[in-house]
Amino acid sequence: MSEAPSQPPAKVTAVALASRKGAGERVVAVTAYDVTFARLADQAGVDVVLVGDSLGMVIQGHSSTLPVTLDEMVYHCRAASRGVARAHLVADMPFMSYQASVEDGMRAAGRLIKEGGAHAVKVEGGVDAAPLIQRLVAAGVPVMGHVGMTPQSVHAFGGFKVQGRTSSQREKILADARAVADAGAYAMVIESVPRKLAAEITLGVPALTIGIGAGAACDGQVLVMHDLLGLDPAWKPRFARRYGKLGEAAQAAFSAYAADVRDGRFPSDDESFE
Ligand code: KIV
Repeated sequence: MSEAPSQPPAKVTAVALASRKGAGERVVAVTAYDVTFARLADQAGVDVVLVGDSLGMVIQGHSSTLPVTLDEMVYHCRAASRGVARAHLVADMPFMSYQASVEDGMRAAGRLIKEGGAHAVKVEGGVDAAPLIQRLVAAGVPVMGHVGMTPQSVHAFGGFKVQGRTSSQREKILADARAVADAGAYAMVIESVPRKLAAEITLGVPALTIGIGAGAACDGQVLVMHDLLGLDPAWKPRFARRYGKLGEAAQAAFSAYAADVRDGRFPSDDESFE
């Protein structure tokens, strides 16, 4: 008897993700910036691949996400999109691609969807970002919000510091989260806030909450792939967990290769042509 042809795995959509709210199935998200790592994450069953503007730090070596351009986001998103078969692909709107006007934001999101192949865009901010989120949702673009420690406001925060510890910060973050959800976002990242605040937001809004440095009560979690994979042996933020030591593995492989070349062990006859 011939086996039934295997079905391709169902694609993870914004609609499917939104329906997980309150259903107890946590959302797994990770950043990726190119085809190789997007494919590895996709094949591992990750739900959401986020082409984050964190690429400004982990790929480009800047000290913040602020220098990242829309062209660079489109480039990396397009590369990552070629590795994604099942996962939901979200692209970050970079700094100043949407803060000056709703029209700027609409055009920037259009490029990430049309040229980058993104399925949704992520926008930092809350009350201020709500008019743009509303317009994008009305235009058929799923939007993920981002509240709490929003890295594009690093200078206003005086550094990448936990937000929401004072009552005024707390009230602002709660208002931002409500505004993002009311504007129609299907999900929001909550970054670097006390876990009780993230839990309160998670219970209080209909949108999915995806935490990073926001405790275990969120509807899902996201990590920067470099932190998760241990690609930089010298860097581990408190909120991240390393699931590999790929930085050390890569260094060991480069060293072994260098030694083989220097000692004439690479290439062998088998690795050469007649
Ligand atoms: O840019 C990014 O990678 C992000 C995540 C940290 C959520 O926004």
